[in-house]
Amino acid sequence: MSKAQDMSLLGLSGKVALITGGGAGIGRATAELFAEAGMRIAVAEIDPARAAAVCGMLEAAGAESLVMEVDVRKSADVEQLFASVERRFGRLDVLVNNVGDYLGYKTPFEHSAEDEWNALYGINLLHIFHVTKAAIPLMRRSGDGGSIVNVSTVEAFRGIPLTVVYSAFKAAVTGFTQSLAVELGPDNIRVNAIAPETTNSAQIVATRRVPPENRSYISRWFPIGRFGEGSDSAGAALFLASNRLSGWVTGSTILVDGGALAAGAWMRLPDGKSWTHLPIIVADGYTPQSAYVPPQDEKS
Ligand SMILES: NC(=O)c1ccc[n+]([C@@H]2O[C@H](COP(=O)([O-])OP(=O)(O)OC[C@H]3O[C@@H](n4cnc5c(N)ncnc54)[C@H](O)[C@@H]3O)[C@@H](O)[C@H]2O)c1
Repeated sequence: MSKAQDMSLLGLSGKVALITGGGAGIGRATAELFAEAGMRIAVAEIDPARAAAVCGMLEAAGAESLVMEVDVRKSADVEQLFASVERRFGRLDVLVNNVGDYLGYKTPFEHSAEDEWNALYGINLLHIFHVTKAAIPLMRRSGDGGSIVNVSTVEAFRGIPLTVVYSAFKAAVTGFTQSLAVELGPDNIRVNAIAPETTNSAQIVATRRVPPENRSYISRWFPIGRFGEGSDSAGAALFLASNRLSGWVTGSTILVDGGALAAGAWMRLPDGKSWTHLPIIVADGYTPQSAYVPPQDEKS
């Protein structure tokens, strides 16, 4: 079977997808895979250099595309974006709400400030409201139902210290996904989410950040022994985009986490056969063990 036949099984050829934050990481990998599936692609990207680069990639792939430099947190930008998508393509079948960021905050909650909460709200939730609200009438007018995919995180389903507010807004994405799925079911517009674990992207440099002396541990940190790649999440998004494959899936979240959530704290020992959920932790994986300085006990 040729690649083209393979992709035609998805039934996505000629359909129109809008991907927010499609200039890097998971969003860019999704744009690339959707283009391979024969879709027409709109990308909303705030960073001019990334917008230009993804535009070049989509042109080289032969995809009909529209890349717009917009800030999806701003309602005026979103209005302009949708006017352009409708003018260019006349329809919308798939929306991937991919923009999201922990903004580098690693703050104990009791020291976090309202500015931080507002910034995290804007980048993780507010734009999903603006963009989705604008997308629904266009999807409805397109007449073929639709698929909305919200990019959440595994941190919406487990506790993460020092990133409490980010994880709270991502958990809200789950509530939004479930409730909107119910509301839009009668329109055959499906609403789902994907929840990645640590994935190499522009925002998260994972594999390269692990110093050589710690690399042998990577295979033991997750049941599927590696960090995620953008293409892992893109594959899940493609499944959710395809009405043929996931036509009766709505209100769900797909974990794209190499089995991390299922494992809880379980990790393999160096013999590769035994397991523990009580590892002896002496440093974090990103710091060379030789350079690790434990925080001083305040009382000593
Ligand atoms: N990478 C990970 O480890 C990881 C893990 C779990 C969840 N996620 C989630 O996956 C999604 C994508 O993450 P990523 O790591 O690929 O991010 P990334 O930062 O690598 O890429 C995000 C893209 O969005 C663009 N962008 C940022 N703000 C924007 C705005 N206001 N308007 C338009 N474009 C904007 C950025 O310029 C960038 O190109 C996010 O929702 C993130 O929370 C990522």
